Amino acid sequence: MDFIDKDSTYLTNDTRQKRWAIPYSYEATNSRADVLLYKNKKYIENKTILDLGCHFGTMAYICSQLHATSVLGVDGDSNLIAQANAFKQETNLTNVEFIQKDVIELLTNLEENSFDTILCFGLLYYIPDNYHLLKLMKKVAKETIILDTFTAYYNAIQGKDGPAFFNNLNDDSLELPIMLHSVTKAKKQKHYELQENTFRNQPKQNPLTLLTCPTKSLLELYLQSLELDYKQLNWKKYLANPEMKWQELEPPQAKTNSHWSDLYSTEVRVSYIAKK
Ligand SMILES: C[S@@+](CC[C@H](N)C(=O)[O-])C[C@H]1O[C@@H](n2cnc3c(N)ncnc32)[C@H](O)[C@@H]1O
Repeated sequence: MDFIDKDSTYLTNDTRQKRWAIPYSYEATNSRADVLLYKNKKYIENKTILDLGCHFGTMAYICSQLHATSVLGVDGDSNLIAQANAFKQETNLTNVEFIQKDVIELLTNLEENSFDTILCFGLLYYIPDNYHLLKLMKKVAKETIILDTFTAYYNAIQGKDGPAFFNNLNDDSLELPIMLHSVTKAKKQKHYELQENTFRNQPKQNPLTLLTCPTKSLLELYLQSLELDYKQLNWKKYLANPEMKWQELEPPQAKTNSHWSDLYSTEVRVSYIAKK
């Protein structure tokens, strides 16, 4: 099913169409829309939605198409919010609003049960205290949180430094409830970059950002300790290589040749629905 057309402004203006690990291509975006939103449409239709880290509003647009009562998209990047508002006008969305804000600040100041459903896609790993974010989402969600995130396998395989730095990790260690931090050098300035004095010799031109990912077992411990009723979402229909293991994605060449769904086969990325 097409949730977003090939010529949609949300696809034609996306510079991340081929990006590893999540390409914002026609196929990957529609598959994400299906598994993360459409298959959970009873938590979207006639519901108030908060989309955290909304980028330029692609998922908010799809929620609107799925008859959400209203959607509030929040992102820390003012350029993305300006783009989200331009696309909103272009596509005549009336039940969607966007604001530029840090998600922790926003959630801290929101009342309990402010939104029926919270979307947290591709965001958890930018927040060093993952558990704090989950706790705040539990406060603000009235019913449901839908989560799509990288696990610690991602730290272990990503970039040039991941495999060298984390070379002692194996299947056993990454089944433990632990969390990995990696610093990465972003090509363009990010609003969530580390403060100038975080590390000695930190480059001024390309500041560092921090990726913090829990292993799947730690993430599930967090959900359990928050007494959320959670279920892992099923990507089976879309998996090109269902038997693949995370180590196979380590070589740079494997990343170039991989299918986007390999992230989900290997559980480098996982998604959950969690209910209060
Ligand atoms: C990888 S994108 C995910 C986009 C979209 N949710 C998706 O899954 O396709 C992460 C987004 O989160 C935003 N972001 C990261 N940290 C944030 C923070 N602390 N507060 C608000 N937005 C943040 C970034 O600006 C970026 O647009």
